[in-house]
Amino acid sequence: MSDMQDFIEKMPKAELHMHIEGSLEPELMFELAARNKIDIPFKTVQAVRDAYHFSNLQDFLDIYYQGMSVLITEQDFYDLTFAYLTKIHQQNVIHTEIFFDPQGHTDRGVSFSSVINGIDRALSDGEKKYGISSRLIMCFLRHLSEEEAFTTLEQALPYRDKIIGVGLDSSELGHPPSKFERVFAKAKTEGFLAVAHAGEEGPPGYVKEALDLLKIDRLDHGNRSLEDAELIDRLVDMQMALTICPLSNFKLAGVKDMRNHPIKKMLDLGLKVTVNSDDPAYFGGYVNENYLAVADNLDLTKDDILALARNGFEASFCTNTQKQAMIARLEDYGH
Ligand code: HPA
Ligand code: ZN
Repeated sequence: MSDMQDFIEKMPKAELHMHIEGSLEPELMFELAARNKIDIPFKTVQAVRDAYHFSNLQDFLDIYYQGMSVLITEQDFYDLTFAYLTKIHQQNVIHTEIFFDPQGHTDRGVSFSSVINGIDRALSDGEKKYGISSRLIMCFLRHLSEEEAFTTLEQALPYRDKIIGVGLDSSELGHPPSKFERVFAKAKTEGFLAVAHAGEEGPPGYVKEALDLLKIDRLDHGNRSLEDAELIDRLVDMQMALTICPLSNFKLAGVKDMRNHPIKKMLDLGLKVTVNSDDPAYFGGYVNENYLAVADNLDLTKDDILALARNGFEASFCTNTQKQAMIARLEDYGH
């Protein structure tokens, strides 16, 4: 093992962009399919993995929605979430902020309460067993209507204390943030923080809409902001955090060669960038593999790695006291 790999693996870190449904490994997919008597169009774990070749976001999303069809009961959501926490505990992740897509389940007849109660119970157990702190972010599927997003927001209100914020994911092109301006305004009045996927495939104008219309507190992806110099300045000035997902960018073909991944350039520009896994079961790695991919391909130094990890803690939705405690652990480690 290289010295850098060892350094990354042992480093305390946060993850701020991970869709819990995207952590469904093929082994658990088969187990849940059998438990729930659901047919999946694959015979073996290897056949599932072999199907994971994507040429863009939509290609991936089609397989991602099909994969989550095995999730039915509260226990399924618990098992999914606890498996992710077990994995990241081995990777020395000490804080995670998890997305979930309730509409991917309620549209199949699964109750909102099964989804949230299963995830929430696993997060509590993860805190007790592994000491991992967490927050939950509910995403609206942007290919669906504003009205359906409003319905989802209503369903979330009884669970307000379990959900820190709302987000926006799924097919970006053709579904600009402006479509959800009123939903996000309502969510903000209910006390939710806001994030949105923008500039993953969509143009810089979508990032501006996310800032101006959705009033986001953090930007998911944001890669295409680099095409607009004024927008870069604005993101730097406001120290808006970007949740970058290196292996996702590569697998969805936004970045053709990891040696050209923009995260180093972003760091050098003064953008507050963080490293995350997005959909680890689909994109070939959890958070450590993402750090390692950029470290290796971009010749990052240990100071770069520490700066990325520090951004992760600073950009989290924790209290200042919690952030300071986590940063102190990182500084201890870096010295
Ligand atoms: N982009 C948009 N929607 C998603 C993603 C993503 O990377 N992962 C899961 N849903
Ligand atoms: Zn994502």
